[in-house]
Amino acid sequence: MDVRDLFDRPLSDLRISVTDRCNFRCSFCMPGDRVYRFLPRPEILSFEEIVRLARIFARLGARKIRLTGGEPLLRAELDVLVAALAGIEGIDDLALTTNAYLLPRHAEALRAAGLKRVTVSLHSLDPATFAALSGRHVELRSVLDGLAAAERAGFRPIKLNAVVIRGTNEGEIVDLARFARRHGYVMRFIEYMDVGTVNHWDPSAVVSARQIVRRIDRVWPLEALPPAHPGEVARRYRYRDGGGEIGVIPSVTEPFCGGCSRARLSADGMLYTCLFARTGHDLKTPLRGGASDGELEARVAALWRRRDDRYSEQRTAALEDGGFAPAEKVEMFRIGG
Ligand code: GTP
Ligand code: 5AD
Ligand code: SF4
Ligand code: SF4
Repeated sequence: MDVRDLFDRPLSDLRISVTDRCNFRCSFCMPGDRVYRFLPRPEILSFEEIVRLARIFARLGARKIRLTGGEPLLRAELDVLVAALAGIEGIDDLALTTNAYLLPRHAEALRAAGLKRVTVSLHSLDPATFAALSGRHVELRSVLDGLAAAERAGFRPIKLNAVVIRGTNEGEIVDLARFARRHGYVMRFIEYMDVGTVNHWDPSAVVSARQIVRRIDRVWPLEALPPAHPGEVARRYRYRDGGGEIGVIPSVTEPFCGGCSRARLSADGMLYTCLFARTGHDLKTPLRGGASDGELEARVAALWRRRDDRYSEQRTAALEDGGFAPAEKVEMFRIGG
């Protein structure tokens, strides 16, 4: 039975974070100048537990699953989980968001297991900027090799995500678009968001989606496209010369809470009904405490029915009237973006 929240939004997307660990240290997510405490192994849901919950979400209306992290490929045997999720009735889209570093090792097995789509985070094509953004121990080459591996394994179309940060990679917008056009990837530019607190987000570091579109449009004229599906986060544009499409994700300047149908399950079994939530709802305790599928389904349905999240709309209104104050929120690497 499909559920609706207080604003009549369905629960159609499930984002599952399979680990809070990451082999990168992106400055806007997990800055490398501090030490992180990761979830101890017993706190992390097993594949069986994840699949059981995913089935329950599917019964409540979820049609799409996206695997996230931290970095999801750090979870051993992820292809085994993919195969189990791919077999769930009602799930017709199964995707992965990754930094691509481990794709050369895993792309083929993931595709064979039933993964449909891969989105790769690529914020810079300049080795020095890339290293500065992603953590100094990471080389751009390894991400480009991962992308090539995804292509060889047959993933199409591949989407690329770049978080645009003023004064860091904003000068590369056109270069990133050119790279994606050349390879047939869909480049998506994400406005830098105030997820979590460790990144010390500052609104002056945001480059707006409008500015991003304008810069690309000056080089290759663009035309707006309608959303590919309801509740899509990206605003899509096509190149008028037939060179493919791009997306911009304007979470700060044009929030899209009105159509937000995303539930997020963390690696330790907490349900978050918003990317910017302060707290989650514990599903692991009832799951491990002997609750039946029916009881778990009733719990998730009850939580969704009273959902009233619209953080981005509220933050943007507060920024406009000068009342914005940073709040404690769950970190991006815990909730998976
Ligand atoms: P498609 O399934 O291809 O449409 O991809 P997607 O846009 O769902 O996946 P992806 O993980 O690549 O999302 C892109 C980025 O948009 C995320 O990493 C976040 O930075 C941002 N984003 C996704 N969902 C939300 C959301 O509900 N709220 C906000 N504010 N930002 C979101
Ligand atoms: N603002 C916007 N996007 C972010 N991501 C990580 N942190 C932020 C942030 N503060 C991106 C990742 C990845 C996706 C999951 O979200 O780089 O592409
Ligand atoms: Fe970077 Fe993604 Fe890792 Fe965060 S989880 S540090 S955004 S690669
Ligand atoms: Fe959904 Fe929260 Fe993002 Fe709004 S801010 S779109 S409610 S996840």
